[in-house]
Amino acid sequence: MIKKKILHVVGARPNFMKIAPIVRAMFNYPDEFEQMLVHTGQHYDANMSQIFFEELEMPRPDINLEVGSGSHATQTAQIMQKFEKVLINYKPDWILVPGDVNSTIACALVASKLGVKIAHVEAGLRSFDRTMPEEINRVLTDQVSDLLLTPSKDADENLMREGIAPAKIRFVGNVMIDTLVRLMPKAEVRWPNLRDEYKLDRYILVTLHRPSNVDDPNALAEIMSAVTEISEQIPVLFPVHPRTRSRISSLKLNQSNRQLILTEPMGYLDFLALQMKAALLLTDSGGIQEETTYLGIPCLTARPNTERPVTITNGTNQLVESKTIALLNAIERVLNNDHDRMKKQLPDLWDGKTAVRIAHCLFEK
Ligand code: UD1
Repeated sequence: MIKKKILHVVGARPNFMKIAPIVRAMFNYPDEFEQMLVHTGQHYDANMSQIFFEELEMPRPDINLEVGSGSHATQTAQIMQKFEKVLINYKPDWILVPGDVNSTIACALVASKLGVKIAHVEAGLRSFDRTMPEEINRVLTDQVSDLLLTPSKDADENLMREGIAPAKIRFVGNVMIDTLVRLMPKAEVRWPNLRDEYKLDRYILVTLHRPSNVDDPNALAEIMSAVTEISEQIPVLFPVHPRTRSRISSLKLNQSNRQLILTEPMGYLDFLALQMKAALLLTDSGGIQEETTYLGIPCLTARPNTERPVTITNGTNQLVESKTIALLNAIERVLNNDHDRMKKQLPDLWDGKTAVRIAHCLFEK
């Protein structure tokens, strides 16, 4: 039997936990699939990339395009130029592109022009906010994809509204939850060391990296002022994304106090352990909205919208304006209300088995 040649693309931190379980699932069908893993190099620091390969037990990339950082146009164009050569050499039957980062659209666009079939993992999410670079990446990747693998039913509806043929859409569930379910026991083991290292009992865990929050000095100052004020009542642990780190230091906002702990970005296991034990997450990440929904941990998302509405309707997520007063009010409300900790109904097919469903979809194609 002729094997299907599958080329997986990863580029930035949130891609690794989506592709890792698919690679594992396809390894179980060695007669059906031949796999290749390409890292674009969009994220390159060890704690933004390498540590995830180790902790998620992913094979090392067969090829790293080493594009690094740049403006959107520069980064996207460099990925396209380098990825085109890889596709011409390897001639895969399918490429799998996850999520909504610049690597996703760059590789999808190259494949579409070379007639290579594209499967988009996490298709159909929409914030309806075209000022977000990710929204542009989502809409365009979905338009050129041949197989649209959706994490929730709202995504199917979004795609059909945009004229995507229903035959191309497969509702498979949330593949990032596969990684979370598999690694929760390992993360649990990390907790005692983390608790002792950061002297944690009840605490808030913070992440921020959206350009709308961190590239706008006013928004960043409002958020940092809320975080600093609340840290007088409850410890705040804040692993700082590299984009955010440079903004915080150029605005001289990095005033740690005894209870406001700014750290380097964390690996997957430590961060998952910290999420599992937190009183509350304050974030602007997409993935964390989903992970907290699964874990039943309250999440405040400092954004005016979300492309993941099931985390609000089914989960523990709430949107909050990036203003000091709004943030402080929302934080106090959550901390004083134990009902927010209650798990609601998990979205359908967030069950840890999405990667196997994806492998079956590719197997049938
Ligand atoms: C990217 C994604 C975003 C995703 C986020 C997760 C796009 C458009 N954005 O945003 O959707 O949520 O990743 O982290 O693709 N940098 C480092 N080391 C690294 C990587 C980046 O220092 O390993 C610094 C560089 O100064 C770089 C900046 O971070 O200019 C931003 O990196 P970039 O990949 O452009 O965007 P992110 O903000 O990480």
